[in-house]
Amino acid sequence: MARISSSVYTSHVPAIGAAIDLGKSHEPYWEPLFKGYESSKEWLKNEKPDVIFLVYNDHATAFSLEVIPTFAIGTADSYQPADEGWGPRPVPVVKGHSELASHIAQSVIQEDFDLTIVNKMDVDHGLTVPLSLMCGQPSQWPCPVIPFAVNVVQYPVPSGKRCFELGKAIGRAIQSFPKDLNVQIWGTGGMSHQLQGPRAGLINKEFDNAFLDRLVEDPAGLASVPHIDYVREAGSEGIELVMWLIARGAMNDVVNEVWGSDKGVGSKVKSNAPVVKKRFYHVPASNTAVGHLILENV
Ligand code: DHB
Ligand code: FE
Repeated sequence: MARISSSVYTSHVPAIGAAIDLGKSHEPYWEPLFKGYESSKEWLKNEKPDVIFLVYNDHATAFSLEVIPTFAIGTADSYQPADEGWGPRPVPVVKGHSELASHIAQSVIQEDFDLTIVNKMDVDHGLTVPLSLMCGQPSQWPCPVIPFAVNVVQYPVPSGKRCFELGKAIGRAIQSFPKDLNVQIWGTGGMSHQLQGPRAGLINKEFDNAFLDRLVEDPAGLASVPHIDYVREAGSEGIELVMWLIARGAMNDVVNEVWGSDKGVGSKVKSNAPVVKKRFYHVPASNTAVGHLILENV
């Protein structure tokens, strides 16, 4: 059967893609940021996933304001890097995994989550920048990718709770796929940032770090935070963080809770909580605080 081995979380700032593509990653402004991903790139090479299920948001690129799906799953065989106004990024075509994507669509829709099925779309920086951060500049991405787009651009956007519940359904769907696949699930976007209006440039380190703490230790509690709190504390684009709850909801300790007893006090603890393999936080990157986590299932 397929299994989710780990989840990866990262911001997706477009200027990071431009820094890579234009050979600026060793400039003093960018170097500390890229250093933060070096061990993650090594980790990914060793993990050799068969498929990456990549939760991201489209920025009115593939979906204009004419059609706005709340949740959209890519079931195509391949996806072209999008032209976001300055030509497509010089990155490899993204190969899909239509068989697993179709299975997930079938399973999750039967669990009453209304997904839009997308057989053709271009993928913007929301998807390609996380791949670049984790893989560098390969001639091909290391494995097929299933793009899963979430509307966090045009209100109303889905709640953290809805995203977390959807993540559980995606986790169950992947676990029921009858082929032996090592699957990673990635949650991308965030952290705090606001790109317009009087608060443009807002960064909230306290909020971001508390979010990282809770994502690891108390994801169910974090899922109950209403969207207005994200907007107030993390800026209008900070709402992208709800996508991280989809990836977290698919992890083993949420989908298949295993409880053991805490030796000292006798209270119950989850014994299959994920291992934190990486935690990184950096400000600034363009207008955004960059956060990055890797959690491994035990
Ligand atoms: C920036 C950040 C984003 O998440 C985005 O989608 C576009 C721009 C920025 O920092 O400029
Ligand atoms: Fe964004």
